[in-house]
Amino acid sequence: MMTSKLCVRFVDLVVVASFTIFSCTNSASDLVPVNLRTEYKIAPVVDTESPRLSWELNSDVRGQVQSAYQVLVATSPELLAEGEADLWDSEQVRSNVTNQVEYAGKPLQSRNVCFWKVRSWDKDGEPGSWSPIASWEMGLLDKTEWQAEWIGNDLTALGKGKVYHLPPSPFFRKEMELKSGVKSARLYVTSLGLYEFQINGKRIGNDYFSPGWTDYDKRVYYQTYDITSNVSEGRNAFGAILADGWYAGYLGYALLVNNPVVKNFYGDVPLLKAQIEIEYSNGEKELIATDETWKTNHGPILEADILNGETYDANFEFVNWSQEGFDDALWKYAAVYPATNDRLIECYPGNPVQIHSEIKPIAVNRTEDGKYIFDMGQNFAGLVRLNSVMGNKGDTIVLRFGEMLHTDGKLMAENLRKARAIDTYILKGDAKGETWTPRFTFHGFQYVEVSGFRTPPTLDAITGLVLTTITPEVGSFETDNELVNQLYSNIVWTQRSNFLEVPTDCPQRDERLGWTGDAQVFVQAATYNTDIAAFFSKWTVDLNDAQRPDNTYPIYAPAPPIRATDTYSPGWSEAGIIIPYTLFRTYGDTRIVERFWPNMTAYLRFMEEKSDGNLIYKEGSFEDIRPKGGFGDWLSIGKKTPPDLLASIYFAYCSSLMHEMALAIGEEGDAAYFKKLAANIRQAFQEHYTDGEGRFITHAAAYGDGAGYVDGHMGFDGHTQTAYANAIFKNMLDPDRKEIAGKHLVDLLRAHDNKLSTGFLGVRPLLPALSETGRSDLAYMLLLNEEYPSWLFEVVNGATTIWERWDSYIKDVGFKNNAGMNSFNHYAFGSVNEWMFGNMAGIKVDQAGYRTFIIKPEIAKEGISFVEATYHSINGEIVSSWEKEGDQLRLQISVPVNTIANVFIPAIGPDKVFENRQAVENSPDMKVKGFSDGYLNLEVGSGVYQFTSENQ
Ligand code: BGC
Repeated sequence: MMTSKLCVRFVDLVVVASFTIFSCTNSASDLVPVNLRTEYKIAPVVDTESPRLSWELNSDVRGQVQSAYQVLVATSPELLAEGEADLWDSEQVRSNVTNQVEYAGKPLQSRNVCFWKVRSWDKDGEPGSWSPIASWEMGLLDKTEWQAEWIGNDLTALGKGKVYHLPPSPFFRKEMELKSGVKSARLYVTSLGLYEFQINGKRIGNDYFSPGWTDYDKRVYYQTYDITSNVSEGRNAFGAILADGWYAGYLGYALLVNNPVVKNFYGDVPLLKAQIEIEYSNGEKELIATDETWKTNHGPILEADILNGETYDANFEFVNWSQEGFDDALWKYAAVYPATNDRLIECYPGNPVQIHSEIKPIAVNRTEDGKYIFDMGQNFAGLVRLNSVMGNKGDTIVLRFGEMLHTDGKLMAENLRKARAIDTYILKGDAKGETWTPRFTFHGFQYVEVSGFRTPPTLDAITGLVLTTITPEVGSFETDNELVNQLYSNIVWTQRSNFLEVPTDCPQRDERLGWTGDAQVFVQAATYNTDIAAFFSKWTVDLNDAQRPDNTYPIYAPAPPIRATDTYSPGWSEAGIIIPYTLFRTYGDTRIVERFWPNMTAYLRFMEEKSDGNLIYKEGSFEDIRPKGGFGDWLSIGKKTPPDLLASIYFAYCSSLMHEMALAIGEEGDAAYFKKLAANIRQAFQEHYTDGEGRFITHAAAYGDGAGYVDGHMGFDGHTQTAYANAIFKNMLDPDRKEIAGKHLVDLLRAHDNKLSTGFLGVRPLLPALSETGRSDLAYMLLLNEEYPSWLFEVVNGATTIWERWDSYIKDVGFKNNAGMNSFNHYAFGSVNEWMFGNMAGIKVDQAGYRTFIIKPEIAKEGISFVEATYHSINGEIVSSWEKEGDQLRLQISVPVNTIANVFIPAIGPDKVFENRQAVENSPDMKVKGFSDGYLNLEVGSGVYQFTSENQ
């Protein structure tokens, strides 16, 4: 495997810049940069002045690192191929950095297309080959470059229905003559509401729900499409359809709670703003922009709403409406809407929502009343396409959606609450059959009830379209335990269903909000499954746009006023700190930390003031919010952990994260401040919330009868699994106290029949805390438990996604609990994924951005004898796989180029570990660092390693 002699066995990556380059051998390196990305994306359009570049490195050489790099950026691939970097030549930079590299060349202008490549020097100072060429494009950097007007068609008067006011979707069109010699064409488009754009009869792009959800009073995003191949010389037709979407449609549970406003939170008429920019080969330019000359009408989309569904009457279809020559004489002119506020118009920073995959139903059954229920075999978020449906003009097909069936086979739709979630298609009677997919709605479902078929449908009658924000898949997880594998699949599907423009609580009922508590407990788990950098960067903007006047972060973001009493909550608001921190740790992203540093410090200031000089929150500190104390350990079992105790832990935890982030961005003063603050909070916490023996206590009497608190009638107790798990995981305790807390946690498990009792805030730290206090065996016991309450209880009860409650459904018993608050697609309890990757497979970040990382697998005593996890980090693919064979353990790991793994191999002694049958001490590719607690600790550089060890 090794092709060149090692010069430096273990390069300290931090000081790599100081060692001599070109020192060792003259042979060229096999190092090659791959996966070139800009702002986390491949060939994106961006509007930041100094986009961040990243690459990964391939090499067959073990222990390979980058000692220097050179980036070239040019205005054309031809120039770049010749090595002419007319925009930027970074020259050789002695650094091991391969991501978050800021462009530092000539100032970039709107519309610049930038081509770039990079090469790296290896650990011996040898240059590798140049990477393939990558590119990015600059969007419109200045708002004044928008010459397009906001146009609309006020159809609000046409919304009908007593409960729901759902106006039809407006269509817009415009024809233009283009000259010959179109060299390039771009569409810049945005809307208030949702849009679909078409040119010459073709839909542009594959994105759904554009331009995304933001606080439209503050900012709206635009998309850019290269439409060079969509236009041609002569007449061209441009068209768009709008829908209310998040801008003007129904949101959350506003209707359910009788909020005075139930829709139109940002405005009531959806508006379009689009400009098409043509560049001819002779340098001439042409602009086609939305204005009062665009024509508009309403047609087949009778209503379209995210929560309530879509109704399409094919009899009102405009045939070829977005093609040239369509007769729009009866269409009226669009109205121009003057900009009423100074919202920002920015380039979309996230990943788009698109169709991830298609699903064919696995069964269809007729109901007593002549309807058909299709089973998709998987709970998911998305749509259904009606395929070639036959019928007479005016026949009406109605699709209803549900996640579960009642025991009598009927659709269970009670948990949708006020989300009507019905799609309707009215046939025109085409003898060839009619195919239809809604555009501006989505549902969370496994079952579809269809009425209106003339003849019994086959399984081909409908197709499921899985919609999600396309976050690139980066992880895989497999064991020899099928139930655990199904649990992993359920977690992935739940993430997929709920990472849909914003991280939502659930995709089905009348919520679908960016609940901050759910997101903060799940975000670390999510990093192992998909690359969430762009998605959560975008949502961090939403979070900060929604920061409240008192500087708290809200309970959901974006945060339109869905209910007057919705304010902030400990355990939820901390998403404002935990999300940027996770992006920093996972991707080495300090820009997001810098950008929101003032907001984050302001929030911490609020929390400090709120502690009223106590540094912690004594019982009843949050009586002023609704619910009192906030949501606390939402959906836990048994006595409640005092919300103030949890808030105190979160306060210390966030102060620590702030300390770490301050160091990373060079805010020394803040770093010292937060370090001290965290230490003081911990001290005060132990004094107030523990007795002399380290048992957690609370003055329960302070909560009275608990009225106004979430499940307050259950009573409050500091001595709970949730309290100890959080305190251990969030490093609240001195070492001896931590050990005692671990023992209390074990006692509580025993007292609870070896079962968990945690809710949203307790579930994330529970298994990690057991591992941390040496009880990995009990963590496995909880994971593998199949009885209520547990993860596998859901699995053995047929779950294909993670449920909101531990007992949302029980086979042969049915739906317990509050039917309306019973989602079957809720990721909070899926946070166990963090322990599965981080402890079972043992992959954990060490230095931010996985520059160094830990592989420390915890081996199950029973129930599992094989685990394999892969995680494609920002530096490349990490693999950790172990298998038990008698008293032997086989461990295979893969370490990306330019990283160092701190590997801990379970063994009965330091001399019982071999790599490729060689004793590890004799290997030149690793450094033995010590043996303790049954683990041999090695430091290894890049490469694939096969270890065996005696473990019993
Ligand atoms: C949501 C949760 C959320 C909670 C607040 C619910 O209705 O679905 O996931 O965090 O409210 O407790």
